[in-house]
Amino acid sequence: MRILFLCVTFLILFSFMESQSEHLHVVGAEATLVAVAGEDLVLPCFIKPNTSAVDMRIQWGKVNVEDSLVYLYRDQKDRNEKQAQSYRGRTTLFKEKLQEGNASLKLSDLRVSDEGTYKCFVEDKSWSDHITVKVIVEVPGSHPLIKMESYDHSGGINLVCESSGWNPEPEVLWLNVEGVTLPAEDTQIHKDSEGFSVKSHITVYDRSDSNRFYCRFQQTHHRMQTDVFINSKLFD
Ligand SMILES: *[C@@H]1O[C@H](CO)[C@@H](O)[C@H](O)[C@H]1NC(C)=O
Ligand SMILES: *[C@@H]1O[C@H](CO)[C@@H](O)[C@H](O)[C@H]1NC(C)=O
Repeated sequence: MRILFLCVTFLILFSFMESQSEHLHVVGAEATLVAVAGEDLVLPCFIKPNTSAVDMRIQWGKVNVEDSLVYLYRDQKDRNEKQAQSYRGRTTLFKEKLQEGNASLKLSDLRVSDEGTYKCFVEDKSWSDHITVKVIVEVPGSHPLIKMESYDHSGGINLVCESSGWNPEPEVLWLNVEGVTLPAEDTQIHKDSEGFSVKSHITVYDRSDSNRFYCRFQQTHHRMQTDVFINSKLFD
């Protein structure tokens, strides 16, 4: 009986010790992080349950790129000799937070080229896990401009709204004076080294109350809008 009891105790103790590291896992961000160029961004990576990461290996890398090392911490030191050139001087690990299992990385002065998927890999002697986090870097474009292009044979007027220099591709909306969206006819999107430029076409018709129309470009963190007023006489 006593031997059985000892055995059971041992088994429980053993499986408890096993599960200590098995239960550890790394958590990050569920959603894509949308940040603004020039600002700083914290890429979240956290060990759960609360465990010190001071003696672990923490490796941040960019997925699917050649020169992919963004940050390496090992043997309680930074090992950034092989860090990709474009990240030099722009990365920080929160050293004082490592003992809480926080392996988040601060990326400073964001650039469009920082866009992509990052991997946080955490490794201990008997255990390892990783998460990935996707990053989008927003840059607002030029102020949109509306031009009257031509008369439409159905009695309307053809307008085009354009703006350039956006990243990523902005959402473009036409609105009437009540804020109701109007259907665009044709939208041309072009991408070059300056970013996305967009031309959106619409045909508007005479309204007795107000012939003011709005064109809006928007992203998660930016919104730019311009309007045009068309005298009713022009529709005749
Ligand atoms: C996490 O662990 C650290 C160090 O062991 C401790 O200071 C902190 O209070 C803990 N936090 C929680 C939420 O348990
Ligand atoms: C980790 O530390 C950073 C920097 O202090 C903080 O912004 C972030 O919220 C922390 N993460 C967690 C899950 O506590």
